[in-house]
Amino acid sequence: MTELDIDSIRGDFPALASLVHGTKLVYLDNASTTQKPNVVLNAIRDAYVHSCANVHRGVHALSAAATAQYEQVRTIAQSFLNAPDDKEIIFTSGTTEAINLVANAVGRARVWPGDNVVITEMEHHSNLVPWQMLCADRQAQLRVIPIDDRGDLRMDRVPTLIDHRTRLVAVSHISNSLGSVNPVVDIVTKAKEMGALVLVDGAQAAAHGPIDVQALGCDFYAFSGHKVFGPTGVGVLWGRREILEATPPWEGGGDMILSVSFEGTSYNEVPYKFEAGTPNIVGVIGLGAALRYIQKLDFDAVARHEQDLLAKTVRLLNSTSGIRIVGEPKLRAAAVSFVVEGVHAHDVGTVLDLEGIAVRTGHHCTQPVMEHFDVPATVRASFAVYNTAAEVDRLAVGLRKVREVFG
Ligand code: ALA
Repeated sequence: MTELDIDSIRGDFPALASLVHGTKLVYLDNASTTQKPNVVLNAIRDAYVHSCANVHRGVHALSAAATAQYEQVRTIAQSFLNAPDDKEIIFTSGTTEAINLVANAVGRARVWPGDNVVITEMEHHSNLVPWQMLCADRQAQLRVIPIDDRGDLRMDRVPTLIDHRTRLVAVSHISNSLGSVNPVVDIVTKAKEMGALVLVDGAQAAAHGPIDVQALGCDFYAFSGHKVFGPTGVGVLWGRREILEATPPWEGGGDMILSVSFEGTSYNEVPYKFEAGTPNIVGVIGLGAALRYIQKLDFDAVARHEQDLLAKTVRLLNSTSGIRIVGEPKLRAAAVSFVVEGVHAHDVGTVLDLEGIAVRTGHHCTQPVMEHFDVPATVRASFAVYNTAAEVDRLAVGLRKVREVFG
């Protein structure tokens, strides 16, 4: 039994009432992006109608209003992450830009030939390619913590992979393709023993439980607005203030400077030196509304509800002949990948779509994970707080339809 009023929550999300191919939408692609509640849609409209102006620049009333709303979201994000200081919150275009910022600004200041950067085999390409580029540029080694056949990290390999030449460790909090919840604190402990910094990719975690960067002990935490019921094109990078202060800016432009002349430029203080140019002002304001919405939910109840949905889905998949779940991690959150024997994942997705069911199919930007499990692609069902047990029943009907179509 869940204590959440799911009907009322669903009522907050107008898209969930949509018809797709004439039937009611079942949206199980939340790891890709989430639907948006009215409070976010209204905040975006209000910002464009009542305070459409640039931030940090104008003396006029609209600019002051936009700046106040924009800056208030730093405090909201600080409390969402339990970060010590709102000046440690940097607004980015999303998790990908946040990771690129750390790889380019922090990485280039700290990684030199002979050093190494450690990632894991289950990383999304966005937490892999930026480090590969950095290591190639710096003649550093990219080391990979492997996964086992359940889709858990091989923690026994960590003591040898993270060593005194490790400068950065980058790890996902929750795997986007397998749903594995990673033992981030254990990785942080080892990294700290070796003096390495740790970035946690929280893209898949932020909508599913309370995030506490102080308890995690990491140095950077990144997440995207659109996966936490907020707008696309906006995200957050949290970083420890002393590290951000010691790090040169990555992108140059307006707002990140104190003074500019042809002889030289002095940079603004943290976090502004990392926010060059006009930011995604309305996106940030929409993100603030999304985070306020999430903070009103009982996160323990959300986690229990999502775990119930996941358990029901796993039972369904395990009891359906011809379906194989890919990855059985010890701890899984919000997503499960599977294959239907003899049917390409895209074909499964197409039949489910005709039944009104949205899932993601493909390699999920984790090609090394697909290689590990020797599959070209999977079907992934991923959940959010507004999903219901009845929707899992609809998935069961959809999968029977797949069998009927493909024999
Ligand atoms: N990173 C997103 C996903 O896993 C797009 O689907």
